[in-house]
Amino acid sequence: MDEFDDLDLLEDVESLEVQGEKEAHEEYPATIVLVEEHKTIKKAIDILVNSVKNKVQDESLYLNLARFFSEYADAIHHGKEEKILFEYLKKKKVPEHVLEIVRELENDHVRGRELVEKIRENASDVESMGDYALAYASMLRDHILKEDEGLFEAMHPYLPVEEEEEMVKEFRKVDPSSKKELEMLIEKMSL
Ligand SMILES: [Fe+2]
Ligand SMILES: [Fe+2]
Repeated sequence: MDEFDDLDLLEDVESLEVQGEKEAHEEYPATIVLVEEHKTIKKAIDILVNSVKNKVQDESLYLNLARFFSEYADAIHHGKEEKILFEYLKKKKVPEHVLEIVRELENDHVRGRELVEKIRENASDVESMGDYALAYASMLRDHILKEDEGLFEAMHPYLPVEEEEEMVKEFRKVDPSSKKELEMLIEKMSL
């Protein structure tokens, strides 16, 4: 585990599991898109955590999850945040406390990529993959909370609803045709 040793993985994962979902941001269309994508990502995290906790040995399951985390959580979802939302906030010169959250979130995205790579590399052995998977789950659940209950609240005063409507159009342009297929993959695995 070398560089990921500092995390108290299981405790983090379990304390976050009990936190309920909060419906908010109804009037902000771009935020709603991101919150909806978070729900799909959280389902995938639950599958990963349950499989690891039950010591399921199934390379194709973990490779499918790694594919989802790379193509959906990272490319599709983090791609929207980094290339559209965060860019907008930086250009708008929002206050430092908002930019500070953005920088932290960007760092999480980088760390997430490293951990997904570890999950992929170790997919054939749940024993060697487990700690990476739980570190990823813990980090990503925490990351999603930082957005749902941190960034989104903090940015709303600087991001008018009309701008969010424009942003939704940008989101649609960058969504690949595989988005639905990846969502279906997680729906099927959740059954
Ligand atoms: Fe993010
Ligand atoms: Fe996000």
